[in-house]
Amino acid sequence: MASKSFSSFFFIFFFAAAMFASFPSSNAQLSAGFYDSSCPLAPLTIQTVITAAVLLNPRIGAGLVRLHFHDCFVNGCDASVLLDDSPTLMSEKTAVPNNNSLLGFEVVDTIKTALELLCPGTVSCADILAIAARDSVVALGGPTWTVLLGRRDSLIANQSGANSDLPPPFLNLNQLITFFGNKGLSAQDMIALSGAHTFGKARCVNFRAHLNESNIDPNFAATLTPICSSSTADDNNLADLDVSTPTTFDNAYYTNLLNRQGLLHSDQELFNGGSADALVRTYSANSDTFFSDFAAAMVRMGNISPLTGANGQIRLNCRTVN
Ligand code: HEM
Ligand SMILES: *[C@@H]1O[C@H](CO)[C@@H](O)[C@H](O)[C@H]1NC(C)=O
Ligand SMILES: *[C@@H]1O[C@H](CO)[C@@H](O)[C@H](O)[C@H]1NC(C)=O
Ligand SMILES: *[C@@H]1O[C@H](CO)[C@@H](O)[C@H](O)[C@H]1NC(C)=O
Repeated sequence: MASKSFSSFFFIFFFAAAMFASFPSSNAQLSAGFYDSSCPLAPLTIQTVITAAVLLNPRIGAGLVRLHFHDCFVNGCDASVLLDDSPTLMSEKTAVPNNNSLLGFEVVDTIKTALELLCPGTVSCADILAIAARDSVVALGGPTWTVLLGRRDSLIANQSGANSDLPPPFLNLNQLITFFGNKGLSAQDMIALSGAHTFGKARCVNFRAHLNESNIDPNFAATLTPICSSSTADDNNLADLDVSTPTTFDNAYYTNLLNRQGLLHSDQELFNGGSADALVRTYSANSDTFFSDFAAAMVRMGNISPLTGANGQIRLNCRTVN
């Protein structure tokens, strides 16, 4: 008897100790049902705002997908990209890849305001970005997937990290693979995620040099030179990333690459006689394969170094730390 209660005591003691120790862990897993009891209407609220915003302006959908990417590649998916400049914080928004380029912040604010009324202090800005990206893709004709949740928001931004870790459009294929590899993503993930360039726009400054390269369709280049001359006055002029279906999430991006109609140097690197050619052909020929690989890669991108447990905070305003 004595020995049985003794072992029960130790069983309970170790069980409780193990439970306690697991809570503050930064490696805790994200989960699909994270807000099921704390804020069950959060996903529907986010989807409602996104669907309306994207209907009014499809480019907002592209902007929101890119925001999630630019969040996750800098200190993990922690909403660091959403923080504004303050006397004590240097925002990521003015980093070279982001300055005069990111959009969708006001839609995130609208969602956050609604969620603070619905379930105060509960839903993180990082999770809002993950759901908003998925809902934007769905609203414009792309695949759906289950978004894992439970990320928390950072207390800091990392402007130098945004400058060093976000891939510039001047990279070659091996460099692109390395940038994604640095975040734990495979070459296949990189090729599938680049399919997000099926919508949205880029500025002349990011594609001017590509117009003079030997691997661009000259007729396609000729349509772009009037809006992107060698004058820096044209730097902010915009062109569609997907010349054939610019506001739809589909696999036309890959068919454009087969036709040498990638807008960015980095886009055309995926079909330039190298190791990515085969997968570009596959995605161009088979929309279902692209959709399922893209969805799986978005989940992996969304898992990059989240803050969980007791780390970080739930921001009340996505633009400032509490
Ligand atoms: C593979 C490496 C990548 C490079 C080099 C790259 C580079 C760029 C550049 C230069 C622009 C135009 C920005 C501007 O001119 O202001 C852009 C736009 C965009 N990127 Fe990427 N990107 C990459 C991967 C991704 C990924 C992984 C995603 C999302 C999953 C993504 C989503 C987008 C979207 C949606 C836009 C259009 C945004 C808008 O219309 O405002 N990109 N990208
Ligand atoms: C960001 O863009 C603004 C407006 O074009 C410019 O004045 C500023 O110097 C840029 N900031 C950085 C850090 O490059
Ligand atoms: C900022 O990002 C760089 C590059 O990933 C990283 O080495 C550095 O530790 C980050 N800084 C902070 C304060 O998180
Ligand atoms: C591209 O070629 C055109 C015509 O040859 C030339 O005028 C222009 O300066 C070149 N632009 C760049 C960025 O090299």
